[in-house]
Amino acid sequence: MAYPTAVRTHFTAMSASASPLWRVLSTGRRVPAVPARHGPLVVAPFATAVESPTAQDVNPAQILRNVRPKLLIDGDFVDAASGKTFPVLDPRTEDVIAQVAEADAADVDRAVGAARRAFDSGPWRKMSGRQRGRVLSRLADLLEERAEEFARIETLDNGKPLALSRGFDIPFVVSHFRYFAGWADKISGKTLQTNSNTFAYTLHEAVGVAAAIIPWNLPLLMMALKAAPALACGCTVVLKVAEQTPMSALLFGELALEAGVPPGVFNILPGYGPTAGAALVAHPGVDKVSFTGSTEVGREIMRGAADGVKHVSLELGGKSAAIVCPGVDLESVVEEAHDALFMNQGQACAAGSRTFVHESLYDEFVERAVERAQRATVGDPFGDVQLGPLVDSAQLEKVLGYMREGAAQAGAGYLCLVAEYSYLIYRLNGSLIGVATQGAVVRCGGSRIGSKGYYVEPTVFSDVRDEMSIAKEEIFGPVQSIMKWSSVEEVLDRANASPYGLGAGVWTKDLDLANRISRGLRVGTVWVNCYNQFDDAAPFGGYKMSGFGRDMSEYALQNFTEVKAVVTPLQDPAWI
Ligand code: NAI
Ligand code: MG
Repeated sequence: MAYPTAVRTHFTAMSASASPLWRVLSTGRRVPAVPARHGPLVVAPFATAVESPTAQDVNPAQILRNVRPKLLIDGDFVDAASGKTFPVLDPRTEDVIAQVAEADAADVDRAVGAARRAFDSGPWRKMSGRQRGRVLSRLADLLEERAEEFARIETLDNGKPLALSRGFDIPFVVSHFRYFAGWADKISGKTLQTNSNTFAYTLHEAVGVAAAIIPWNLPLLMMALKAAPALACGCTVVLKVAEQTPMSALLFGELALEAGVPPGVFNILPGYGPTAGAALVAHPGVDKVSFTGSTEVGREIMRGAADGVKHVSLELGGKSAAIVCPGVDLESVVEEAHDALFMNQGQACAAGSRTFVHESLYDEFVERAVERAQRATVGDPFGDVQLGPLVDSAQLEKVLGYMREGAAQAGAGYLCLVAEYSYLIYRLNGSLIGVATQGAVVRCGGSRIGSKGYYVEPTVFSDVRDEMSIAKEEIFGPVQSIMKWSSVEEVLDRANASPYGLGAGVWTKDLDLANRISRGLRVGTVWVNCYNQFDDAAPFGGYKMSGFGRDMSEYALQNFTEVKAVVTPLQDPAWI
């Protein structure tokens, strides 16, 4: 290749480290001490080596022993005003592992009242940024000390492999609180060059009471993406956790109090969306709503926030393109495109769920992608596996529905075209196994595994066409759809034809092509020769129906600050 050495080194480094996490998952055992620099998926090693429990050893009551299944309001863990609770399930077994207090409008009112008082007259907003930063640093330290406990809670609650909770979710939360602890005393405005005899400057002030409504796919990390910048800015927070996964945030609430976050500054409401969530969005005491979840609920939230003209930022669904260009090293790219989709059982907003492969590589890529997906181990997430169960029965039904819709029958087959979108699928021995009404071929997977727990097979569709529902809609499951492309203009048009615009990946050895595609895509993040490389310092969020506003990085501060201009006459405008 004719690249300058620096570029070549960069590409080599990126591809060598592009899926450190998955390497851990596929080789099993524990998370190694990977330096953060080129392995952001493994953000920081745990201080002490920990033994993996075998799946049989898992005792939910023991794992949850320190979690108080209540609401956190004004520094106290309390029952819901109604006295109601709701069940939380273990996605491995469908057993109830906890009954948690269920917040509704009355509790929202209490929590927002506490957050309002804490903002208007409490110490948090008025203390120096340096002091707030120290509290947030202490909170990060406390979490790090108990990282293993949190990782197990996350895996029990969500079903994600323990190696992922240990190697990605929890270390990222630690790192994110440290990162924003560092920002807390660096949130400043500007001195302005005015056109009059005035002195003018801006202040970036805390926006007020911030409501955070988060999903279940990365429970503690989603909390961190909202709470860390909000608290750094001096806001007070009311967090509505997802009904499927409330446990880790509740324990984190205890740590926040222990770290010195004053009562009322960080409140937590487990409960359902249409009740607790909607009441929180509409509450007049809330100044800002930060949401991650489905596009459909994002719209509801904009409507709900409209009456109070509240600040809103939304990180919504996606249908991200993973674009494989000619001439790449298939071995590593197949692996990275696999990770891009299958990480977290495909339950990731940025999942690379449209795999666009250049025609020169298509057949070989499909073969290898199928072989890779068939090798992926699925099972108890406390064991040595790459995929655990999906989060709940609703998600299971949704994913199975897409698998059925994508093709009529699962199984290896070859095609006989009978109409434009209708194929007969034959087994390799010649017997008819079904009709693929939309024309994609299930190369592997396509079914639920067992009848207890929300496990599904890693699934690969080839011959996918853009108009099929599996190519257009967010599945949020382990379903890879592989499409063929011929020209760069065409693949850019097709990638951009989605109403979503969250992320994308491009694999190429051609730097000019990488630049052209990166600029051509209407998405919030482009990963070049890698995927899912998240970093505290890099903004994350969407174009189009993937939302607006950015989580993570310096840009996230804008979500939680107002800009105030202060103008005063200058008697002696020395610089004019
Ligand atoms: P959802 O958007 O309904 O839930 C996310 C959060 O919003 C939860 O805390 C929920 O209680 C809350 N919520 C629901 N309705 C609300 C309302 N009317 N007002 C205020 N808050 C409300 O997502 P759900 O039902 O869990 O998953 C459905 C689909 O959404 C998934 O299959 C996936 O396609 C997508 N999704 C996208 C995520 C992302 O990271 N962008 C995360 C989770 C789901
Ligand atoms: Mg929903």
